[in-house]
Amino acid sequence: MLKGKTALVTGASSGLGRSFANLLAAKGADLVITARRGDRLKTLAGELETKHGSTVTIIPLDLSMRGAAAELFERTEAAETPVEILVNNAGFATLGTFLDTACERSAELLAVNMKSPTELCWRLGRAMRERGSGRILNVASFASFTPVPNMAIYAASKAYVRNFSEALSIELDGTGVHVCALCPGPVATDFYEVAGRAVGRTDVPAGAAGPDEIAGAGLDALFAGKRLCLPVAKDHMNAFFMRLLPRGFVMKMAGKEMGLHKTGGEE
Ligand SMILES: NC(=O)c1ccc[n+]([C@@H]2O[C@H](COP(=O)([O-])OP(=O)(O)OC[C@H]3O[C@@H](n4cnc5c(N)ncnc54)[C@H](OP(=O)(O)O)[C@@H]3O)[C@@H](O)[C@H]2O)c1
Repeated sequence: MLKGKTALVTGASSGLGRSFANLLAAKGADLVITARRGDRLKTLAGELETKHGSTVTIIPLDLSMRGAAAELFERTEAAETPVEILVNNAGFATLGTFLDTACERSAELLAVNMKSPTELCWRLGRAMRERGSGRILNVASFASFTPVPNMAIYAASKAYVRNFSEALSIELDGTGVHVCALCPGPVATDFYEVAGRAVGRTDVPAGAAGPDEIAGAGLDALFAGKRLCLPVAKDHMNAFFMRLLPRGFVMKMAGKEMGLHKTGGEE
């Protein structure tokens, strides 16, 4: 289905990104994969080349660094085939209250979760519009539907990703470029280990979905031309009730769910 097309997946060293890369390769796509951990990317590239015969380019990069998105774009443009599918997946959360989280860590979050995907959408989106075709999947979160105390800037960053993606998808109507925001609830990945390391709460929530299932639903929605994907059926109902209930009540419940007043933070 995607033979001869190239997909760029950010955050491919783990979790959902690894699943996106696997599923895209299984559909015949060639890949450009990026994350900081180059050793993991190298192993994944070997697996994808052996299993699916894909051509895989690895670009180890820290997307929180100034200029990283531009460098990524330039290196993909220099390749023989342009990127036709962009999966902006790299991201992380910090568990704990905002004032108790290191300021540098929050700045890194904003760069990886918002600035980098925005810039990649701009750079690759313009190239796609010029060619008259392209697909962009931006990984937001179910946390984008309400402010979440104890994970405040993460939820706010994902609200940005969802709103930005939906608006962009309408701006690009009729250009051949399609944008979709994926909004998963809990997924069993290293996300919780990374988010809760500083406060010693790293358990994956009970009932978390598998990364292959969620990545598959996201790609199906992207290729079906949807602007928004809530991959778990019960989340449609949850989102509906969250709109009906008083906002203050929903926010307090969300904070309780995130262990507000049970976790501290780093200095
Ligand atoms: N798991 C969930 O419950 C859940 C729910 C909703 C949305 N999401 C979203 O899904 C996406 C993928 O997360 P995941 O669950 O798969 O977690 P994960 O297993 O921790 O993967 C996160 C990926 O992001 C990359 N990344 C983090 N910081 C980076 C940086 N500074 N520069 C470049 N790459 C960086 C990591 O690679 P390196 O560490 O190698 O750099 C890793 O490949 C994120 O956007 C997350 O917010 C997750």
